[in-house]
Amino acid sequence: MQDTAEWQALSAHREELDGVHLRDLFAADPSRGERLCAETDGLLLDYSKSRLTDETVALLAALADAAELRGRTEAMLEGELVNATEHRPARHTALRQPDPPPEVQDELDRMAAFAADARSGRWHAVVNIGIGGSDLGPAMATAAMESFAHPDLDMRFLSNVDGAHFRSATRGLDPARTLFIVVSKTFTTVETLTNARTARAWIADAVGTERAGDHFAAVTASPERAQEFGIDPNAVFAMWDWVGGRYSLGSAAGLSLMIAVGLGEFGQFLAGMHHIDEHFRTAPWTDNLPALLGLIGIWNRNFWGWPTYAVLPYAQELAQFPAYIQQLDMESSGKSVRADGAPVGIATGPVVWGQPGTNGQHAFHQLLHQGTDIVPVDFIGFCQPNHPHIDHHDLLMANLFAQAEALALGAPDSGDPHRSFAGNRPSTVILSDQLTPRSLGQLIALYEHKVFTQATIWGINPFDQWGVELGKTLATTIAAQLTGAATPSPSSDSSTQSLINRYVERRRGVAD
Ligand code: F6P
Repeated sequence: MQDTAEWQALSAHREELDGVHLRDLFAADPSRGERLCAETDGLLLDYSKSRLTDETVALLAALADAAELRGRTEAMLEGELVNATEHRPARHTALRQPDPPPEVQDELDRMAAFAADARSGRWHAVVNIGIGGSDLGPAMATAAMESFAHPDLDMRFLSNVDGAHFRSATRGLDPARTLFIVVSKTFTTVETLTNARTARAWIADAVGTERAGDHFAAVTASPERAQEFGIDPNAVFAMWDWVGGRYSLGSAAGLSLMIAVGLGEFGQFLAGMHHIDEHFRTAPWTDNLPALLGLIGIWNRNFWGWPTYAVLPYAQELAQFPAYIQQLDMESSGKSVRADGAPVGIATGPVVWGQPGTNGQHAFHQLLHQGTDIVPVDFIGFCQPNHPHIDHHDLLMANLFAQAEALALGAPDSGDPHRSFAGNRPSTVILSDQLTPRSLGQLIALYEHKVFTQATIWGINPFDQWGVELGKTLATTIAAQLTGAATPSPSSDSSTQSLINRYVERRRGVAD
C-alpha cells in the first residue's frame, strides 16, 4: 500500500502540514467546525480537531478506494472467507440483520425464552463466566445499560482465573438463587473452565450435586463440551464459528445483556448496530463515520507516527468501554504480517487505552496536554443523561468540550515554560443524544468497522489472534510444574526457571 500513488500523495501532503496549527486552521475557516463532521441516525462525529484539511480527507478517501475498501466490505458482509488464516467468514453483521439467517433467528428465540424465565424472579443473581470477547462485551454493555436493566437482578461478571475474582464475583450471593452462564466459544479456555468448575462446586455445596446443573447455562460453539461439563442441552446456546469472540456481543454471547435489559431493548441494541452496518456499506467515505474514524486512525498512525490513542467516554456508564475497544482494536490490529503472510512493512495497530472523563483529567491528562508524545483522543459524550442530575451532566459535558478545545488550541505563550500549552493536539468528538441500547449498538459497530477500515488499508487479517497462543502453551507447561505434575522443563530460560523455583519454594512455605 505504501508504494501506491495514493499513499505517496498523503506522505507529501503530510509534510505540507508541518508547522500548521489547529488554531490557525480554525481562525482561517469559521465553518471548519461544522463542515468537518459526519452524522447518521443522531450519532455525530466531529473530526474538525484532527490535524487535517479537506484535502487530507479527499486523499484519505482515495486511499480507501485504492485499498478496495468498498469491495472488501461487501466481501465481509456477503460472507466470503475474509478470515483466511482460520478459513472462515466474519459474519457478525448477520447477527443484527432485521431478517437474520434462520439459525440465528432460532437462537434469538431460544435466548428470548430463557431470558424471560431468568427475569421472572427465579434468580436473584446472574454471573457471566468468560474472558476476553466472552466477558468484555457482556460486562461493558450490561454496565452501560444500567438504566434499562431489571431492577432486582444482580448481574455479575467473572473472568480472571485469579481466585480473588471468584471471591468478589460471588460475594454475598445466595447459591440457591444464582445462575451461572458459561460463555466460551471454544469451551477449552482454561480461565473460564477453572472458574466454571469452582462455581459448580460452590453451587453443589449448597444445593447438592444432582441439582447443580440447573444453575448453569452455556454459550459456545462446542455444545458437546458444555454437555460433558453437565449443562442441560436446553440451556446451551450457539456461538457460531463464523463470529469472532470480540465481535460476538450480538450473538448469544450477549445473553446476560438480554437478561438484564429484556428482549425489546436487546432488539434496539441490534438495530443500532445494523444501522451502522448499512451506513458503512453505503455512505460515501467522506460522510461515512466508521470509514472516517478508520482513515483518521491511519492518518494519525502512519503519517504522523503517533503510537497510541485514547478512548475517553464522558459517561460513567461506559467506564468499561475503553477496555472493550482495547481488545477489539488491539487483538484485531496487532499484526506484523499481511493476510498473505508477507511482512506488513508499515506501522499497524496503535496502543488503545482510556478511562472515563472527568476522572482521567485528574490522572493522565497532564501528559495529554504537555507530554512529549502526541496522543490523539476520541471523546465520547451524550446530550441527555440517564439520570435526573442535569447540573452534573452540564458540568461533565463542559469538561469534555473544554478538554478537546484546550488540546487543540492550547493557550497563548505566558512566558513561563511550565505553564505553556502548545496545543495542536488532535481529537475527535463523538456526540450522541443519549446512551440507549440503540446508541450503544451504534458505537460498537462504529468501532468494529473503524478497525476493519484500518485493517483493509494495512492488508492485515483483523479476525484472527494467533499471537495469544504461545503464552497459553507456555502457561500450560509451567502450570504442570507449579502443581508438581511435571519436572522443571530444561528448555526454560534461567530467569523463568529461577522465578518458578522461587515461587514454588515460597508458596509451599506459606502453605506450610
Ligand atoms: O484471548 C484469546 C481469546 O481467544 C479471545 O479472542 C477470546 O475472546 C477469548 O480468548 C476467550 O475465548 P473463548 O470464548 O473460546 O473462551
